[in-house]
Amino acid sequence: MLSFDVVIVGAGAAGLFCAGIAGQRGLRVLLLDHAEKVAEKIRISGGGRCNFTNRDVGPANFLSQNPNFCRSALARYGSAEFIGLVQRHGIAFHEKHRGQLFCDGSAEQIIRLLLDECDAGGVQRWQPCSVQAVRHGGDGFELDTDRGTVRAPRLVVATGGLPVPKIGATDWGLRLARQFGHGIVEPRPALVPLTFDPAPWTPFAALAGLSLEVVIETGAGKERGRFVEDLLFTHRGLSGPAVLQISSFWRPGQALRVALAPADLAAQLLAAKATSRRHLGNELAALLPARLAETWLQLQQLPADRPLAEAKDRDLARLADSLQRWQLVPTGTEGWRKAEVMAGGVDTRELGSQDLQSRRVPGLHFIGEVVDVTGWLGGYNFQWAWASAAACARALAPAPVSG
Ligand code: FDA
Repeated sequence: MLSFDVVIVGAGAAGLFCAGIAGQRGLRVLLLDHAEKVAEKIRISGGGRCNFTNRDVGPANFLSQNPNFCRSALARYGSAEFIGLVQRHGIAFHEKHRGQLFCDGSAEQIIRLLLDECDAGGVQRWQPCSVQAVRHGGDGFELDTDRGTVRAPRLVVATGGLPVPKIGATDWGLRLARQFGHGIVEPRPALVPLTFDPAPWTPFAALAGLSLEVVIETGAGKERGRFVEDLLFTHRGLSGPAVLQISSFWRPGQALRVALAPADLAAQLLAAKATSRRHLGNELAALLPARLAETWLQLQQLPADRPLAEAKDRDLARLADSLQRWQLVPTGTEGWRKAEVMAGGVDTRELGSQDLQSRRVPGLHFIGEVVDVTGWLGGYNFQWAWASAAACARALAPAPVSG
């Protein structure tokens, strides 16, 4: 039977990164993945350019039942460290929006970086290779795999979340966690478009393709989410960064509160009323995207072709209010097929925050998206993959004391 110091299951962002560090620190590492190709999610991320981190990362950019859990790993492996690694590998990158860093070339460069780091650590990679069973005994773990049984005192689970099953996502890590008595925070699709019943959505479906900056909110208290980002109308509902962000906070039955217009819209309309000779429709279209203005006047049953000067003040106030305080309850989400990330996962209250190790089963670690730590849109999920992987790898193989 083959023996290793550590077996890592899942060769995605977290698994590859952990394997490279642990290997370079002298451990004999086996990294296995059931998919033909490693890191498919990196390949498709960021529109093929991989938003590999964010310049500004902190615990406030993450959701979890245990919000402080991510603090230690993020503090000990920050985005500056990963940016340094990207630079050492000669990968050119640029900042797109609010600290979000993307490769100039292709996401493949990040995969190459991770594979080179694994090679530098002498990591053994098996893929495609599935694991049929895991046993834990006195001297560690035994895994029955497609290529025979392997043994190691340490097992790292890096099998990611449930989104995009067609490129290899499975619930293996969650099932393994349950097998060893770990609690699971109910997984749900996050960073995902939201959908509505077709009949009530019909008037808005005409806006499909329209994108505009909004303020979007949902929930209350600690569960409240609020973002100022672009919202995109689609045929089935709402998407765009604003909606992907808020979807991570949204719970079935909850309303979204959306400001589609600036806070002073009523004042602007009333001021224009005193001087303008234009029709209401034209005036509103000067302040908002024309298609939105047209649809909203229809919804509010206000004639677009009546002179603004003839409009009643209270109708203008009602119109502005309906645009600033649009409330709507989504019916659901586009689900795992379209989600970018899984909210929920292995409950962190039974893991060590410094080493990502199980408090129930010594030697068992969970890293990356399989853990109940979910980042906002903007490179935060990869930063969690890097940070949790680094914390785990450094705990597996503490650096030798020099001198
Ligand atoms: P990851 O999913 O990367 O890896 C898990 C690995 O485990 C896979 O290789 C899989 O094949 C393997 N596996 C699963 N089940 C297994 C089993 N039973 N046996 C063996 N192996 C198994 N984030 C970000 O920060 N910036 C971005 O630009 C994007 N963009 C983006 C776009 C799209 C379309 C998606 C779906 C997601 C993103 N993300 C993102 C999220 C990001 O991709 C994600 O959070 C990380 O890849 C998570 O890293 P992990 O290593 O935890 O899982």
